[in-house]
Amino acid sequence: MTHARIEIDPSDTVGEVSPRLFGTFVEHMGRCVYGGIHDPEHPSADADGFRGDVLELVRELGATVVRYPGGNFVSGFLWEDSVGPRDQRPVRLDAAWHSIESNQVGLHEFAGWAEQAGLELMMAVNLGTRGAQDAARLLEYCNFPSGTALSDERRANGAEDPFGIRLWCLGNEMDGDWQIGHKTSYEYGRLAAETARLMRFVDPGIELVAAGSSSAAQPTFGEWEREVVRLTAGLVDHVSLHAYYEELDDLPSFLASGVGLDRYIETVAAILDEEEAALGERMQGRRLGISVDEWNVWYNTRFNEQDKEPLLTGAWHHAPPIIEDEYAVADAVVVGSLLNSLVRHADRVTMANQAQLVNVIAPIRTEPDAAAWRQTIFWPFAITASRARGTALRVAADGPTIATAAYGDVPAVDVAATTAADGRVEVFCVNRDAEHPVEVSLAGAGSVVAGVRDAVVLTVPDGHDRFVANTRDDQPVRPEPLDVRVVDGEARATLPPLSWAAVGVDLGTRTA
Ligand code: AHR
Repeated sequence: MTHARIEIDPSDTVGEVSPRLFGTFVEHMGRCVYGGIHDPEHPSADADGFRGDVLELVRELGATVVRYPGGNFVSGFLWEDSVGPRDQRPVRLDAAWHSIESNQVGLHEFAGWAEQAGLELMMAVNLGTRGAQDAARLLEYCNFPSGTALSDERRANGAEDPFGIRLWCLGNEMDGDWQIGHKTSYEYGRLAAETARLMRFVDPGIELVAAGSSSAAQPTFGEWEREVVRLTAGLVDHVSLHAYYEELDDLPSFLASGVGLDRYIETVAAILDEEEAALGERMQGRRLGISVDEWNVWYNTRFNEQDKEPLLTGAWHHAPPIIEDEYAVADAVVVGSLLNSLVRHADRVTMANQAQLVNVIAPIRTEPDAAAWRQTIFWPFAITASRARGTALRVAADGPTIATAAYGDVPAVDVAATTAADGRVEVFCVNRDAEHPVEVSLAGAGSVVAGVRDAVVLTVPDGHDRFVANTRDDQPVRPEPLDVRVVDGEARATLPPLSWAAVGVDLGTRTA
């Protein structure tokens, strides 16, 4: 068996892990809202039509922030349609997803649901078909206390207190030619700057996210960020990146997706650093954060080649099923390593949103006539979100490597670690080797492992192959206890092939 050694030095820190790293995303798309979080016909639904079983799983997932209402949807969205008496709201065409939008879940209903779920609302404004004035009007509606037409309209619609939404995304994926209102970096940068300026006049307390690239493979990647940063200098706080990964007949490369995300984040960080240095005082002292506000495993090629054309040319439906990917074990392992990448970059990644929350490429699935269930990818998210708090540590595994076509030789064991105020260290490990187990030893730098708490592993369950998924009737993929021994001051465990694990340890002083 091969062996990997991980040395933990609690003084070698990367930065504080923002709770916002564990955000999620709800878009008016497919069955994420209607038929997902909301289904008045479901036995668990509350008076507003929100499913109680879904809400419970959302709380268990432990996400912290929710991006809303899109996604591509937001680029054609008229927010006024979504407020006021439900029976008077217009039914509209959603051109982004070729769907009928009933507006039965709108701003007030969603804000109430997010509060119940313990999620901070991160609102996106429409910079596809609309612009600065509309964004400022929405902000005034949401955040101004009272005494103006828009704030009083909000109060008349049932929200006496302002929503107090702090985080705002300036449009969505405006670099993509699929986007309603797609723009060049110059067109977008100017619009984002003027929208940001006006929004800050209305509410100086907000944080703004400029739209970066929708993928590292975009032909404009790099130049887009440079021009947008120059044009919005001093006006925005974060720049987004979106990153989706899928297995394309090359499992080793897929399992190394975290390396892809590492490089993507580091490239964007280097661009931001260069531009900020060149802009000097024009940055007004701001250091831009990176908002990874859409990331996940998404079988996008299958969608583009098989499902997209029939969806976009077929009949218009309300909440048609769209990209309801079913996740296997490798997908969960990759989600674990993408989370590791986010934690490793805690000094620069200020927030991140797994896309999406329910049904649409989601950790939680529903059907109208069944209880909601956890997909395989639910587990690494929930466990990392609950444990990776405090400070991220600089850590690497010294051990075997794996050859990949996409990224060259990569470490077989992917690792991230955090330390909390109580001294407890959490280590998150992935064995990217799909064929062989690897023995991992965890050692303290100048200290010993004094004890182990809560060690779990997620892998292919006995009696199944690696393609097993959790379905409405059977959910065999779940974390199991991991056997960890403490030997000579080191914690030792065997990671099965294709696995993700979380191990909590206490470090103690080495005695002579
Ligand atoms: O999350 C699904 C879609 O992916 C979003 O609507 C869009 O922003 C991205 O392309």
